[in-house]
Amino acid sequence: MSITGIKGMNDILPGDVETWQHLEEQARKVFGAFGYREIRVPVVEKTDLFCRSIGETTDIVEKEMYTFSDKGGTSMTLRPEGTAPVMRSFIQHKMYAQDPVSKLYYIGPMFRHERPQKGRYRQFHQIGAEVIGVDDPKIDAQVLAMLSHYFQTTKIPDVVLQINSLGCPECRPSYRDALISFLEQHIESLCADCQRRYTTNPLRVLDCKVPGCREATVDAPAMLNNLCIGCETHFGQVKEHLSALSVNYTVNPRMVRGLDYYTKTTFEMVTGSLGSQNAVAAGGRYDGLIKDLDGPDLPGIGFAIGLERLALMLGEQSIEPPRPELFIATLGEMATKAGFAMLTRLQREGVLVEMEYTGKSLKAQLRRADKMKTRRVLILGEDELERGVAQLRNMDESSQEEVDLDGLESRLLSEILDA
Ligand code: HAM
Repeated sequence: MSITGIKGMNDILPGDVETWQHLEEQARKVFGAFGYREIRVPVVEKTDLFCRSIGETTDIVEKEMYTFSDKGGTSMTLRPEGTAPVMRSFIQHKMYAQDPVSKLYYIGPMFRHERPQKGRYRQFHQIGAEVIGVDDPKIDAQVLAMLSHYFQTTKIPDVVLQINSLGCPECRPSYRDALISFLEQHIESLCADCQRRYTTNPLRVLDCKVPGCREATVDAPAMLNNLCIGCETHFGQVKEHLSALSVNYTVNPRMVRGLDYYTKTTFEMVTGSLGSQNAVAAGGRYDGLIKDLDGPDLPGIGFAIGLERLALMLGEQSIEPPRPELFIATLGEMATKAGFAMLTRLQREGVLVEMEYTGKSLKAQLRRADKMKTRRVLILGEDELERGVAQLRNMDESSQEEVDLDGLESRLLSEILDA
């Protein structure tokens, strides 16, 4: 039996990859204008990094990580997200010593062992951005303005920005206790998963999709109504700045995130068109994370966009391959050699030129040229080569002329490059 790819890990084929390239190029352009620079970190990290940042009791760390021991016995994990590796790199390279503010972005694959379905895969790709070193609410609003602008420029339809605040180490513990007491009173109505985790990770119960849990938690206390003065002021200012920047949003007090490092502002870009996998981007503030990873006490905020979900939303339209400018059809060994040399010279000039490599009949060569929707075909035979001429066919105009080989390449080049 032939070998197939791994379930939940997809090939991105020509025809689809152009959409991805467009989404990536657009991110580089937009993020570049907002002052972000690219960072590339490995796809594998020490397992501890993710346990300490994402949180031991999260679904990601409990169930979804691709973890293995390498030959030296070190426990390693394929990165399930990009924030922790970027913070690890930021601390390791003391980036804060060069500049008190770092704005970084990354593009690449992430890995989570989830049950694959539309919009949810085991290898997926994120475009992420992180700002380190600023706790002013202006930066929260600016990050969201940039994210919204990216969605506008890529023409992703119908996305809504939802925001919430998850408090800080000052106000969250008492809220957590209040939530646990509430859940205790409704324990009978919770699903088995929530009955197990309501004391270790009570906020996740608010995010449970099981209808019984949804019903039971309708009147659960919300973090938003239990913020300390500092968090409340911060959230109020974020909302003011968003309005001043004309960024549309709604407040979703039930939004919780699947990673433990968040503090204060959290957000998701959601769509109605992808079924249950409705978040196309998500993120938030993580003011304690860098310190928790033994770095300096610096605040941070960022987001990650799910590229598969964006590509799905842009539709299934497959993009046509580019049309070759020229196809060189040859007859006989000498002509083939001359044609092959011409092909390479023109390719080196940056022109898309094709030929048949395996000595097929002229008819077969022309069929292939036609299939590729080539603009021009140059037919080069032995006799013609001796006379220093060739036949040049314009496929769009269905015309053909005899041309001198001398000076032909520069003529073609100026015609093609000027077009
Ligand atoms: P996250 O919410 O886990 O956050 O993922 C961000 C986005 O990645 C999701 O909204 C979704 O679009 C996409 N995504 C996640 N899992 C999958 C999957 N299995 N298949 C397809 N797409 C998926 C983070 O990863 C944080 N690191 C974001 C962040 C950056 N927070 C601060 N900075």
